[in-house]
Amino acid sequence: MNAHDYAALAAQHGTPFYLYDMDAALAHYAQFASKLPKSVDLYYCVKANTNPAVLKAYLSKVPGLDMSSGGEVEIATRIGFDAKRMSFAGPGKCADELELAVKKGVGIVSVESPLELERLATIAAKHGMRQGITIRINPHSAPKDFPMRMGGGPSQFGIPEEDVPRIVEFAKTLQTIDLVGFHVYSGTNCLEPRAILENVQQTLQLTVSLSRAHDVKLSIVNLGGGFGIPYFAGQVAMDNDALAKSLAGMLNEAQASIPELSQTRFILELGRFLIGAYGVYVTRVVDVKEARGKRFVIMDGGMNHCFPATGNFGQLIKKNYPVQNLSRDASAKTVPQELVGPLCTPIDSMARALEIPRAEVGDLLAFMHCGAYSFGASPLFFLSHDTPLELVYNQGAYAIGRSRKKAYAFE
Ligand SMILES: Cc1ncc(COP(=O)(O)O)c(C=O)c1O
Repeated sequence: MNAHDYAALAAQHGTPFYLYDMDAALAHYAQFASKLPKSVDLYYCVKANTNPAVLKAYLSKVPGLDMSSGGEVEIATRIGFDAKRMSFAGPGKCADELELAVKKGVGIVSVESPLELERLATIAAKHGMRQGITIRINPHSAPKDFPMRMGGGPSQFGIPEEDVPRIVEFAKTLQTIDLVGFHVYSGTNCLEPRAILENVQQTLQLTVSLSRAHDVKLSIVNLGGGFGIPYFAGQVAMDNDALAKSLAGMLNEAQASIPELSQTRFILELGRFLIGAYGVYVTRVVDVKEARGKRFVIMDGGMNHCFPATGNFGQLIKKNYPVQNLSRDASAKTVPQELVGPLCTPIDSMARALEIPRAEVGDLLAFMHCGAYSFGASPLFFLSHDTPLELVYNQGAYAIGRSRKKAYAFE
C-alpha cells in the first residue's frame, strides 16, 4: 500500500469505507508477471474483488479472468473484458449461466460434472456454436499446506481424478464441445512455495498422463491459484521473485522435455495474492464499554462489511487480522481490547485480545489486507446497515468505486 491520509478520506466521505490501492496492486502484478515465462497467462480471479473500478483498473493489464458466476461474466463483459479470455469455473453453474457463457463467447468453461457437460453441449448445439472446455479435476491428493483445500478429498469441486477418463471420452463424442485441456485448483492462501511448486508438478504429471492415455491435446493447462499473503502474527510473505523463478524453471523444463506440453499455454488464476494486500477497511469507534474486566471497542462497521476478519471464513483457529489505530501514535502503549461491530450477534467480533494503542470514541481503525474476499464475502444486509463505501486509488487519484447503499434502496 502507498501512504494514504485516511483521516482526510474519512472526513470527506464518512465511515466505514474500503480503500483499494490499484497503483500498488498493479505494480505488484506487473512485477510478478514479468518474472513468469511467456507460456503463462496470469489471470485475475474476479470473485476476490468485483469492484467495477478495480476491474477497470485491471482491464488493459491482465490477459484474462477467472469467473465463477453468470453475474461475474456480466459485470466483466460490461466493463469491456473480452469473453474469449475468460475461464468460467464453479460447481452448480445453472443452465442460464451456461447459456450466458455460450452466448457471450466465454473462451473456456471449466466443466465440473458430467451433467454440466451434457447441458453445455445441448446449449451450444441450440445456438449453433462450439464451446471450449477444460475439465476440472479433483486430484487424489493436494499438498496439505493449502489451508483451505478444495481438492484432494471428497468435494463438490471438480471431477474426481478416477472419474476423469470417462468424462474425457464422453466429451470427445460431443460435436459441440472442444476439450482444450484440464484445470486443477487445489485450495487457497498457501504461503509455502514448496507446496505451490509440488501442486504444479502434480498437475503437470496428471494432465500429461491423461493426454497420453486419451489423446487429448493440451492447448491449456490451468494450474489454479491459491498463492497466499500473510494475515496473522508469525506468518511471513513468500519471496515472490524466488517463487516466480522456480515456477518458470519448472514450466520451462517441462515444456522442453515433455512433447505434450511443448505448445501448451498455462493459466494461473490468482485472486488473494494479486489484490489481498492492497485493500484496507476503515471504521470509526462509536462506543467503548468495559464489561467484567474486558474492554469492548464498538465500531460503526463489522462482520456485515468485512466478514473474514471475524475468523469465520475458512479459519480453523480464529486469529486477529492486522489492525492499526490510525488516530493514535503507533508507539503508544497498547492494551488488549476486543473490536466488535454493531450487529446483534456475538459472531460480530472483529478482533479479540488485540494489542493496539487504546482506542477511544471517534478513533479510526484500519483492518489491513482486506482487498480480497472481504466486501464480496460479507453479509452486507444483515441488520440493514448502510453498505460501506468503496474508494479506489488509481493513477494517483481517489475515486468512488462503489457508493454507499441504503439497505432500503433495494426495494
Ligand atoms: C476455481 C478457482 N480459481 C481461482 C481462485 C482464486 O483463489 P486465490 O484467491 O486463493 O488465488 C479460486 C478461489 O476460490 C477458485 O475457486
